[in-house]
Amino acid sequence: MTPPDQVDRYAVVGNPVAHSLSPRIHASFAAQSEQKISYEAIEIPLGSFVHGIHDLQRQGFSGVNVTVPFKREAWELCDHLTPRAQDAGAVNTLSFISDGSIAGDNTDGVGLTRDLVDNLGVAIERQNILLLGAGGAVRGTLGPILALSPARLNIANRTPQKAVALAQDFANFGEIHAINYETLGSASYDLIINGTAAGLSNQVPPIPDSVLGENSVCYDMMYNISNTTAFVYWASSRGVKRAYDGRGMLVEQAAEAFHVWRSIHPRTVEIIRLLGSL
Ligand code: ATR
Repeated sequence: MTPPDQVDRYAVVGNPVAHSLSPRIHASFAAQSEQKISYEAIEIPLGSFVHGIHDLQRQGFSGVNVTVPFKREAWELCDHLTPRAQDAGAVNTLSFISDGSIAGDNTDGVGLTRDLVDNLGVAIERQNILLLGAGGAVRGTLGPILALSPARLNIANRTPQKAVALAQDFANFGEIHAINYETLGSASYDLIINGTAAGLSNQVPPIPDSVLGENSVCYDMMYNISNTTAFVYWASSRGVKRAYDGRGMLVEQAAEAFHVWRSIHPRTVEIIRLLGSL
């Protein structure tokens, strides 16, 4: 329990985590909404996630965000899961409950759809969408995207079986299909979302230019504060006018986590604009 003279403590845990922008984003939310909280970045050694979380719980933290590579372990650790966290198979927001239990949520997927729909004005309903990648990051977005009723959501992945498995898992949520990179190109898409880790090595998944239509929107779930991401560069250099990186998603998932903890929805657009200079 937090002594009355202390502020509620939050953190982002990951490995590595030192460069996380979450402390600055949450500090901005707290200042904006006059909430007295602290929020720090804490590295947990690989292999010690459960111990690390219980330690923070003992220290009186109120909740933590979880980032790479611990989101699956966080999911396994929780005593309670929201339906969207259950579907995502990963947790990025933990709340430490006063009875000693841990509740898990996943705000990544709604972070993506809010940035697309509310901030960028990108339609999802009745659109043809191509999603690249089939890892944990993509899995968390499938429920929220399909809830907005796209005409069709195709998933392509380097290891095709993973896309097939995801499409099967989410078949009851809407029109979702696995597709091979090799067979891409005969159709263009309204929206192409990159959820792969290819950008970490400055690469772009192997997709042909013909997936781009005249008005296609491209969205990279990765972001880079000081540079254009490889995927956004790929799209822009092929004439795509609306190509975005994942800064807005980052801020929106943080805002939703803030809401989970504080029951307040912070204003996000001003923070997204400031992100490079926070
Ligand atoms: P995360 O939790 O961030 O999604 P992950 O589970 O390791 O991380 O998934 C990374 C995703 O990026 C996978 O879909 C991976 O493809 P594989 O399933 O075939 O490994 C994809 N990926 C990584 N590097 C890639 C590259 N150079 N080209 C295409 N896809 C890549």
